[in-house]
Amino acid sequence: MRPAVRPQNPCFSSGPCAKRPGWSPALLEGALVGRSHRSKAGRARIQEVLDRSRALLEVPPDYHIGIVPASDTGAMEMAMWSLLGARGVDVLAWESFGQGWVTDITKQLKLPDVRVFAADYGRLPDLSLVDWGRDVVFTWNGTTSGVRVPDAGWIAENHTGLAICDATSAVYAMEVPIAKLDAVTYSWQKVLGGEGQHGVLILSPRAVARLETYKPSWPLPKLFRMTKGGMFTEAIFRADTINTPSMLCVEDALDGLRWAEEIGGLPELLRRSEANLAAVAAWVERTPWVDFLAEDPDTRSCTSICLKIVDPWFTSLAAEERGHAAKEVASLLEAEGVAYDIAPYREAPPGLRLWGGATVELYDLEALLPWLDWAYAEVRGSWGSSTPRPAAYGAPPGA
Ligand SMILES: Cc1ncc(COP(=O)(O)O)c(C=O)c1O
Repeated sequence: MRPAVRPQNPCFSSGPCAKRPGWSPALLEGALVGRSHRSKAGRARIQEVLDRSRALLEVPPDYHIGIVPASDTGAMEMAMWSLLGARGVDVLAWESFGQGWVTDITKQLKLPDVRVFAADYGRLPDLSLVDWGRDVVFTWNGTTSGVRVPDAGWIAENHTGLAICDATSAVYAMEVPIAKLDAVTYSWQKVLGGEGQHGVLILSPRAVARLETYKPSWPLPKLFRMTKGGMFTEAIFRADTINTPSMLCVEDALDGLRWAEEIGGLPELLRRSEANLAAVAAWVERTPWVDFLAEDPDTRSCTSICLKIVDPWFTSLAAEERGHAAKEVASLLEAEGVAYDIAPYREAPPGLRLWGGATVELYDLEALLPWLDWAYAEVRGSWGSSTPRPAAYGAPPGA
């Protein structure tokens, strides 16, 4: 039966994520557009974003936080290109974004002493194998597999290497102990529903010490440079951005931060996201055709909630057909206007991916769940009880 209730907001994309409840473009009317970002007023706005982010995320006072170019990718590559190479590196990957950092380290930076700990979609590598005397690069939440590290217990308290963490789909939704990490990156378009293209980089005092005592052997473009004459350019982390940010996006980031403060700060953001995960988990529990892609419940993401289809009809399809069928479920929901952008990342196994970050209302997610049942039944019914598949995808081989 077609469900009677629709989500009020059908935005469940894993980035850019839903704008915060109550958002409208009119909220950006006060943006400092047409003005220099280096003016007193422009710098004040940027500094306000940094100050509010620092307070909300409980960034330690001796850590630096700055806005950098090119979103989370820019922040991560800036950190890796500037910090890595001084000692051996352990890099962990369990989905495509982590694998991207492995490629950077092994194929672009071509570092000589690298250990890669990789796992397939749905699992984590063995975290106990990490050597904290080396530099460690990892992603807190694997956005494309919906697998997160369960907690920070596996991170050595007094590690001597640097811990470099891509936390873009984790910050503001999960406990990320910044004081235990040395470089933490994220972008605005995730949990607070900001806009793309601006990255945030947080550096520990030990990361700054590395910058001042180690010079990479490769050239660093201006976009990555955080030192001048061997000294840390602290100004970048005090509103003197390397290049021009969008003041419209700055205003939008401020709106997201103010909203987060108003609703109760970090604890409330975490609570909202975990409540969204709990709602999906309860539905998965009673729904035979679907399961989490994350095998261990402790590693299930509360932001990028990735689901696999376990119905025997579906699993008996050929790999390509599974991809088509899962995409049809997502397309049908999009056509109905009840869920946008919930097909999995292009390299991930077929299934569905629902964003459950803090800007998503629990009642919207709850309203969506019966639609998932409906859409899956529709697609399965349209394919008929016998495979292969309908003519839309061409005649089966040999037919
Ligand atoms: C874990 C992770 N890392 C990196 C990125 C790339 O982020 P950006 O597009 O902000 O550079 C994403 C985007 O979804 C992500 O989820």
